[in-house]
Amino acid sequence: SKDLLGLKELTAEEIEYILNTAKTMKYILISKNKKTPHLQGKSIVTLFYENSTRTRLSFELASKYMSASSANVSASSSSVAKGETLIDTAKTIDMMGTDVIIIRHPMSGAPHLIAKNINASVINAGDGMNEHPTQALLDMFTIVEKKGSLKGLKVAIIGDIYHSRVARSNIYGMTKLGAEVCVAGPATLLPPEIEKLGVKAFNTVQEALIDADVVMGLRIQLERQKKGLFPSIREYSRFFGLDEKRLKLAKEDALIMHPGPVNRGVELSSGVVDCEKSLINEQVTNGVAVRMALLYLLTRRDSVENIN
Ligand code: CP
Repeated sequence: SKDLLGLKELTAEEIEYILNTAKTMKYILISKNKKTPHLQGKSIVTLFYENSTRTRLSFELASKYMSASSANVSASSSSVAKGETLIDTAKTIDMMGTDVIIIRHPMSGAPHLIAKNINASVINAGDGMNEHPTQALLDMFTIVEKKGSLKGLKVAIIGDIYHSRVARSNIYGMTKLGAEVCVAGPATLLPPEIEKLGVKAFNTVQEALIDADVVMGLRIQLERQKKGLFPSIREYSRFFGLDEKRLKLAKEDALIMHPGPVNRGVELSSGVVDCEKSLINEQVTNGVAVRMALLYLLTRRDSVENIN
């Protein structure tokens, strides 16, 4: 495929190929001179209809480190605000010689819609409650870097699973790479059919944490709560917040992760965010390496599905 729209569509081999390419990119990223010619002559545009710090900046820096021409389009300051449709906006960007469009949109399926209508490659940087594949790839990269593999690991994902595109992409990817994934959250924030995705679901955080190798906290997505928050932030933090005491249920060497942005004191205590086992800052660095790898693979168009 010319695009990266979700991990649901990728095989374990394709995911591993991306993660291996990211390993090479990380060497470049942490070296003294991180400028490479890999994307010379290529043009990369980010088109974001929702706020972002990590995803947008890491794509932009990845493009620059690899010598591409890059530009950002923010929906709020573009002709989208004058009523231009998503497809017309994407076609306009496509017709300017763009090789890759990276899109974040509040509607599930928006990246899939534009991918069908333009020549440029499309990368999904988060579509509604559906998927955030590049986040899951960087999460898996971070785990593999520390633990060697995902096979046989127990991964506990805690929080607002219902609204989380990060949880969905991680569930697709991690189960394909052999992890045992558990999710926990208030009943109102757990999708009723989540176990059909091959995960175990719990209504108490304690059950999910027992002997976990990896613990991932998720932000409560207030922006997607249509009818007011239940439970309240205070109740959520009391029953599901991850603090040092609760984390003792996980394995001694458990990795602590969060996609960011973190609401300190809600899903994770401040002490947990900053503790030695926390990989939150490393996740940010790895996000650049993974996005360098994706831009490289998609612009070569030896697509991730033709690797054999
Ligand atoms: N994790 C993540 O997607 O962060 P941003 O919203 O800052 O891009």
